[in-house]
Amino acid sequence: MTGIETFRDLQAEATTWRRHLHENPELDYRLQNTATFVAEKLASFGINHIETGIAETGIVALIQGEGGEGPTIGLRADMDALPILEASGKPWSSKITGCMHACGHDGHTAMLLGAAKHLAAKRKFKGTVALIFQPAEEVELPSGALKMVQAGIMDRFDISQVYGMHIMPGMDIGKFGIRPGALMASQDDFDIVVKGTGGHAAEPHRTIDPVTIAAQIVLGLQSLVSRRTDPLESLVVSVTKLSAAQAYNIIPDEVVISGTVRAIGSALQDFAEQEIQAVAEGIARGFRAGVEFKYMRSVPATFNHPEKTKLAVAAAQNLVGTASVDDAVKVQMGAEDFSYMLQERPGAYIYLGNGSTAECHNPAFDFDDEALLYGIGWWVKLVETILPCETL
Ligand code: NI
Repeated sequence: MTGIETFRDLQAEATTWRRHLHENPELDYRLQNTATFVAEKLASFGINHIETGIAETGIVALIQGEGGEGPTIGLRADMDALPILEASGKPWSSKITGCMHACGHDGHTAMLLGAAKHLAAKRKFKGTVALIFQPAEEVELPSGALKMVQAGIMDRFDISQVYGMHIMPGMDIGKFGIRPGALMASQDDFDIVVKGTGGHAAEPHRTIDPVTIAAQIVLGLQSLVSRRTDPLESLVVSVTKLSAAQAYNIIPDEVVISGTVRAIGSALQDFAEQEIQAVAEGIARGFRAGVEFKYMRSVPATFNHPEKTKLAVAAAQNLVGTASVDDAVKVQMGAEDFSYMLQERPGAYIYLGNGSTAECHNPAFDFDDEALLYGIGWWVKLVETILPCETL
């Protein structure tokens, strides 16, 4: 048995790594310094199978247990930062203007490194642990998880199941949250170009004004969720961008309406795609305007495998006790690209409390380094739970 305080020394060390990463954030796939830092740490732990440069800057490293034959399980962390100007005021604030770790990926990387150090030193498990450090979680189409899957990591490293973790502001430090089945939504984006006939703003009767038509389309879309979707189903349709003319006295030829759709389940995605187009075309036709419609499927919904979720829950309960693990958290309508890995292999994604910090993607956000203790502990417990060592 390993109690939480077993990991206290590792947490102190992981804190220095986390703050170094926080001071030196990098974006999307351009993680050269971050990936070099991670690979050097892994090598210093005595891990000798390290493959770098997967999906540009991703890394997979293998640690063999000394407890005999067993499967390979994948443990995944994301490494990229966001294009945000930091306002946390912390001494370890970003040294790169306009770039910061505002989603805790610095902490995710440090936690998995901490667990890797422990696992490589003890090797008290059977089978193999595959450490997956991915780039570009924050990037749309194609994101880092998709590119690593497309690079064939699941087959090449014989990974049979995968796990991921994300810190959660607003959840107490030392608490875990998870649920079987749907955990997070899919993300699709759409563009509607309303095509009218422009002209002078003083003579609207000589135009087909796409601005007033676009306004009615935006309102019409609001009824898709409120009037057309089962209230017990989860769908969000948000219009987020509108672009028209740039002058007071011009009625433009066209207006572009853009937005995002979050859904749980592909039937709802199909519904949203068909109905957004139908509403836009129907309203535009009524006013003799035309419509061009584009619907882009981005990140799929995140589904936790029921049996693997039980293993993730057991590992957390072993670490912090039953009362600190919520195994029926609410579904979130945000999206997470770990879903691509869960489409390839069964596994689970868990939330880890970050205390009462600012929200993720907020300029004031900062990772609470006390959460590193629990993150490192959970990864180690997860390996001990899934790959128990009978001989050592
Ligand atoms: Ni994130």
